[in-house]
Amino acid sequence: MMPLRCLSELARRRRPHRTFDAMRVGLQYFMTTCSSTKAADSNRLSNTYATSCANVPEVAPSEAPLSDMLVDSFGRFHNYLRISLTERCNLRCQYCMPAEGVELTPNSELLSRDEIIRVADLFVTSGVDKIRLTGGEPTIRKDIEDICLHLSGLKGLKTLAMTTNGLVLSKKLPRLKECGLNALNISLDTLVPAKFEFMTRRKGHSKVMESIDVAIELGFRSVKVNCVVMRGMNDDEICDFVEMTRYKPVNVRFIEFMPFDGNVWNVKKLVPYAEIMDKVRQRFEGVERLQDHPSETAKNFKIDGHAGTISFITSMTEHFCAGCNRLRLLADGNLKVCLFGPSEVSLREPIRTGVDDAGLREIISAAVKRKKAKHAGMFDIAKTANRPMIHIGG
Ligand code: GTP
Ligand code: 5AD
Ligand code: SF4
Repeated sequence: MMPLRCLSELARRRRPHRTFDAMRVGLQYFMTTCSSTKAADSNRLSNTYATSCANVPEVAPSEAPLSDMLVDSFGRFHNYLRISLTERCNLRCQYCMPAEGVELTPNSELLSRDEIIRVADLFVTSGVDKIRLTGGEPTIRKDIEDICLHLSGLKGLKTLAMTTNGLVLSKKLPRLKECGLNALNISLDTLVPAKFEFMTRRKGHSKVMESIDVAIELGFRSVKVNCVVMRGMNDDEICDFVEMTRYKPVNVRFIEFMPFDGNVWNVKKLVPYAEIMDKVRQRFEGVERLQDHPSETAKNFKIDGHAGTISFITSMTEHFCAGCNRLRLLADGNLKVCLFGPSEVSLREPIRTGVDDAGLREIISAAVKRKKAKHAGMFDIAKTANRPMIHIGG
């Protein structure tokens, strides 16, 4: 079969723009949905990675990217931009940052509200239809409501989401919702308050629980609970988290522990997806795979009689890079094309020296084209210098 890259180049040369765009999306769709559907059925840790095991969705992806800027050399179209609003956080989660904290970029070198909106606008007019606000902790940024209001007004944006630790969220949520925030992922790694304090090096478990309830009450269309599973820390709570979905209409996502600078990652602390799944199946009946979107990070399941659902984010044992549609704008204005790739390009510098939109598009396009097919595998990632997670925002 002709490699995808050649096909997409062929399409670029031969077709008028819109047809080409549709063809490219089709190719990407074909590539991701034809990927291996191998289920992880053992606890084996492998250094060779299967591609995403997403099922084929019934509905084809929505229409066409608006420009070539967001398409990489493997035909992946990046319609999902994650924007880190701050490097600061009000928790000190062990898996995210070292106890002593991290070096912070001076405020003058962080993107201002207007710079964020300019860059986001450029991405949205190029085809991004989902923006996720991350941090650090995005809710501690003082202009968060204002930023949401502007971003949600961008024509073409369908989802304005946030990943938050939920600590100061409950009071802010009604206003954030009015400002256009429509999807929420809340981190919660334990249901035991004392353990929360140990894992996050701060108090606040009840506040996070309250935020989850407020998000449900306010009718957010998507409330996900992110639980990073670490051996010896919270792997004894897996079934309690699943139990939570019996009455709460949330999506609990079990996340494999990933290596980042300063988080003392060790393969022994990683609990592979297959092992978590075994525990769930031993305790719960009627666990059934749902259809995942090809570009999703999660493998999704429902359980008979449960109001909520559960999912697995298997970045380490079964990566999902073939369907990757994500780019990251960091708080200091660097564009990062892969979570685990150390390469970054500054957008702040050209912006502050007066680059026009065409120039900015060229810089972004070149960075996207340099994106690698997949991450290097967990053992290599663990050895490669990257940023601490708190700078990247997930
Ligand atoms: P949805 O948009 O709701 O699907 O959320 P998400 O999974 O994209 O984002 P979230 O911020 O909730 O992240 C959940 C976990 O997925 C975190 O551990 C992230 O680091 C991880 N994650 C998010 N994006 C990527 C990615 O592009 N690659 C990998 N390997 N992991 C990712
Ligand atoms: N491994 C896996 N997930 C992580 N997160 C933070 N650090 C790690 C890690 N080392 C998750 C947080 C948050 C999301 C942005 O990333 O729980 O929900
Ligand atoms: Fe995308 Fe990189 Fe994550 Fe793979 S590791 S899914 S390429 S961001």
